[in-house]
Amino acid sequence: MFDVKVRNAVPPAGDRREEALIRVSGLRKSYDGASMILDGVNLAVSPGERVALIGSNGCGKSTLLKCLIGLHDISGGTVRTLGETFDRAPNAGQRASLRQKTGFVFQKHCLVRRRTVLSNVVHGLLGGKGSWRGFSHATALPEWRQRARDALSEVSLADKAMSRAEALSGGQQQRVAIARALVRRPQLLIADEPAASLDPVSGRKVMDLFVRLCRQHGITLVFTSHDMDHTAEFATRVVALKRGGVLFDKPAGAVQSADLEATFDGVA
Ligand SMILES: Nc1ncnc2c1ncn2[C@@H]1O[C@H](COP(=O)(O)OP(=O)(O)OP(=O)(O)O)[C@@H](O)[C@H]1O
Ligand SMILES: [Mg+2]
Repeated sequence: MFDVKVRNAVPPAGDRREEALIRVSGLRKSYDGASMILDGVNLAVSPGERVALIGSNGCGKSTLLKCLIGLHDISGGTVRTLGETFDRAPNAGQRASLRQKTGFVFQKHCLVRRRTVLSNVVHGLLGGKGSWRGFSHATALPEWRQRARDALSEVSLADKAMSRAEALSGGQQQRVAIARALVRRPQLLIADEPAASLDPVSGRKVMDLFVRLCRQHGITLVFTSHDMDHTAEFATRVVALKRGGVLFDKPAGAVQSADLEATFDGVA
């Protein structure tokens, strides 16, 4: 039986991957100041890797993704992402830099339903800062519109540019969300269960698309998934979280069924 006490037995992040794009050391995160959701996570991600975070519901995967990019304050340890180092929360300049260099795709794609697909993608260029009031693709700079159209072509949705987002299927909307994340030409793509709301065929297509675009543009991908076929096929590395720490951190091809049994034994 796999002994979960070996959590964090992976070498500390500082021991490897000197040029890591993400380096997390002793990360702790509590929402209420009492219970630690993350309690000493060490992780290093090199450029070009595709890292899958796995673990039971509630183990802290989404929390970790948000801590990596400064969307949540952290309670202890340090995070360095894309050259920005912070130990509680990134400052305003770091936040802006991270927003600029990172793309996010979440399970709920968070498109503005009544706006056009093109407007949704152009809005991605504002890096989450822009208000929607008075905004549309028509008011955007021509070069921004072109970049958005290029991003839509990459996800094979150029013909839907002028459709309202709400008129697209779930799989198509997720592809729009990917285009919106890519339009900023990020170095890092963070995706929280990007295929979870999709049927098996659409989910596989979305994951295929991620991998193709990440390879093509040299983007590093960190994603969460409950689909172990996806993690085996689309990730280069799998990191399992349990009891607030890293249970294992392995090349995707080295993950054994015993590892998964230990990860999903009913304890988050
Ligand atoms: N904003 C928040 N405020 C307070 N507690 C939170 C918040 N977000 C998450 N939590 C708690 O933190 C724990 C980890 O949640 P998180 O969403 O990170 O888990 P997860 O591994 O992503 O789970 P799932 O597989 O269900 O998506 C849970 O107990 C959750 O209730
Ligand atoms: Mg989650």
